[in-house]
Amino acid sequence: MTATVNWGQCHTRPILMIPGPTEMAFPVIQALNQPPSVQYDQHFDEQVLEPTTLALRDIFQTRGEVIIMPGSGRTALEAAALSVIEPGDRVLVVGAGVFGALMREIMNRAGAEYTEFPVEWGAQLDLDRLARETARVRPKALTLVHNETSTGTTYPAAAVGKIAREAGALFMLDTVSSLAGLDVRTDEWGVDLNMTGSQKCLASPLGMALVSVSPRAWQVMEQRKRRASSWAYDLLRWKENWIPASRGGGIPDGTPRRQPVSIPTHLTAAMSVAARLILEEGLPNRFRRHAVAGAAIRAGFAAMKLDMFPDATLWSNTVSCVRTPTGVDPAAVVRIMRDRHGILIGTGLDRIRTSTIRIGTMGLTASPLYVLPTLAALEMTLAELGYRAEPGAGVAAAQAVFAES
Ligand SMILES: Cc1ncc(COP(=O)(O)O)c(C=O)c1O
Repeated sequence: MTATVNWGQCHTRPILMIPGPTEMAFPVIQALNQPPSVQYDQHFDEQVLEPTTLALRDIFQTRGEVIIMPGSGRTALEAAALSVIEPGDRVLVVGAGVFGALMREIMNRAGAEYTEFPVEWGAQLDLDRLARETARVRPKALTLVHNETSTGTTYPAAAVGKIAREAGALFMLDTVSSLAGLDVRTDEWGVDLNMTGSQKCLASPLGMALVSVSPRAWQVMEQRKRRASSWAYDLLRWKENWIPASRGGGIPDGTPRRQPVSIPTHLTAAMSVAARLILEEGLPNRFRRHAVAGAAIRAGFAAMKLDMFPDATLWSNTVSCVRTPTGVDPAAVVRIMRDRHGILIGTGLDRIRTSTIRIGTMGLTASPLYVLPTLAALEMTLAELGYRAEPGAGVAAAQAVFAES
């Protein structure tokens, strides 16, 4: 007999409590288990792709178009940037973490003359200062990461959208780790390009990039001096070649149409089921579930005397970024959680990699079924690493929050 039991081994795979990719409901997994179909077949176009994009409009809370493409969150960011930004265009990028920096780099590659609006990691965004900077820079686009996954923070997207609108700038919002978990109001907040990926709160497989496009963003694309430098990811080609005339596009309703880039049929089928499940749950219920799960896991951390990384006004309900106790290596926490307990969490990223861990409560995992075992395993892991908390305190505190919900 060995001295220690690896509890995770019998599960054959770890439970995904990282901030994406995340767990998928069984019907979503089943949707992947089918023979290949043809992406340009009219049946796929009319019976799968079109209803999926229409359902996604409800999830995005927009009356505009939602485009789905092969790729990931990064593809969505790049497709949106390349579609509206021309070399030399001024762009103001709010940078509050790793994913703000990613947007800055994408804008750089798109040839934008970008200005970064730096925000201290985990700290509040000074809206007055941002408004002044936006008025000074007069950008064509203002970009924000709604939910900065690297620091576990949610920024006030509605207020930033207002600043963009007042300055006549396009508002580009990265909702990769928030859409379908937090209340993202695309139209109400004036989001022109809402960019996300399939594998986080949408609880679908990794592999799809999603972008919603406002009428203003279409107009900007149509008024470009030169076509976008990307062929496959030029969003305007969707309007010209796929969107029906009745919705402002270039294709007569009911006539066969070609996707600008071949759409993965299996991933669309899975997304279709994921979208149906989200709408059946109802957006208000889903947002509330994430809010309760976020509050419960934070109550658990507090009872274990662990500190959150960000400012308390910004705590995200989909990803928690927690400081590890002095002397405890986040990489060791992740390893023991995975190897001994079968639960995968993340370390922090970049400059907070060695001082924080990150845990997702996204889609399925925003639930006591996942939160309570994670807290229990975290307590045992920290104890193994020499940190002492009152046994069971984290789980009890989280249970109390769930019990009140
Ligand atoms: C806020 C945010 N933006 C962008 C990305 C990049 O998305 P992807 O990994 O799907 O390319 C991520 C990934 O974690 C993210 O959390």
